[in-house]
Amino acid sequence: MSYQVRIADSDHAFDVDDGESVIDAALRAGLMLPYSCRGGTCGTCMGDVVEGRIAYPDGLPPAIDADQDESGKALFCQARPASDLVIRVKEVREAGDIRPQRLPARVEAIEECAPDVRRLFLKLPRDKRLAFLPGQYIDFLLRGGQRRSFSLANTPYDDDLLELHIRHLPGGVFSGHVFNDLKEGALLRFEGPLGNFFLRDDSDRPMILMGGGTGFAPVKGIMEQALHLGLKRPMHIYWGARRPADLYLDSLPRQWAGQASNIAYTPVLSDPEPADEWRGATGFVHEQVVRDHPDLSGFDVYMSGPPPMINAAREAFAAAGLPSDRLFYDSFEAAP
Ligand code: FES
Repeated sequence: MSYQVRIADSDHAFDVDDGESVIDAALRAGLMLPYSCRGGTCGTCMGDVVEGRIAYPDGLPPAIDADQDESGKALFCQARPASDLVIRVKEVREAGDIRPQRLPARVEAIEECAPDVRRLFLKLPRDKRLAFLPGQYIDFLLRGGQRRSFSLANTPYDDDLLELHIRHLPGGVFSGHVFNDLKEGALLRFEGPLGNFFLRDDSDRPMILMGGGTGFAPVKGIMEQALHLGLKRPMHIYWGARRPADLYLDSLPRQWAGQASNIAYTPVLSDPEPADEWRGATGFVHEQVVRDHPDLSGFDVYMSGPPPMINAAREAFAAAGLPSDRLFYDSFEAAP
């Protein structure tokens, strides 16, 4: 049994198979609707059910409350149609060749860049390429059907490697494997590209790009794309971390800012210690953004980091006048 979903105010419609989520069916049909975590926790995929009924097989997901549900809002990464639907979403794009695939990849290099962060470089089989937009992520496919999501940290232009930044989490199944026993030459399987955190090129407004911790990874990918395209828009990069060692590629954004007058870089530390002799900005990174740019009404903002940072920043940026359709974010829950 399948239902049809039509997207209001567009020509797009697609079928959803039994048990399939609206987002998964849209991806299968070559359409990118807003989504990030695909787990019901980030709220990126929220839209409106204009006509029809939906159901959540596992109950109401965390990122939607009963009032929103009552008022016709839905999280389309979790929602299953219970009838034909008409839905309204913030943005819909044709995916073209940017479609998720399942691929093997060989570990080409593992680079230690901080005590608890590794850069992982993967190489695809010779006859395969991954079309992706810088800023998107991939899911490693682990035994027992488990998945672990990591952002791509480079662009598809530079070479045929995929770069990921992995933070070691105590007790982490995948990050522990990367830190303790993964060797160059090992084979991994992944699905990707996923997510819709990527540069919108239909704007020339000034941009703020904010990363928290390894949330710098997709920011790096988007910045490298911006440099590749020769964008002249003002771009202010913020990187929030606890201590100086956590800014594990600090020289890179410094170099970008040193080479181009339209690029600025502000690292912000939340917990520097006296021994760090830190003279830069301190506090929460999103608060520094608002201190520097109290009126965000003319900006596009891209941000990536853990849910508490993203949620606090969404509120603070909205209060500073940022329209919700100019805020693009990737909220990642660090899975053990
Ligand atoms: Fe649906 Fe995150 S809640 S993509």
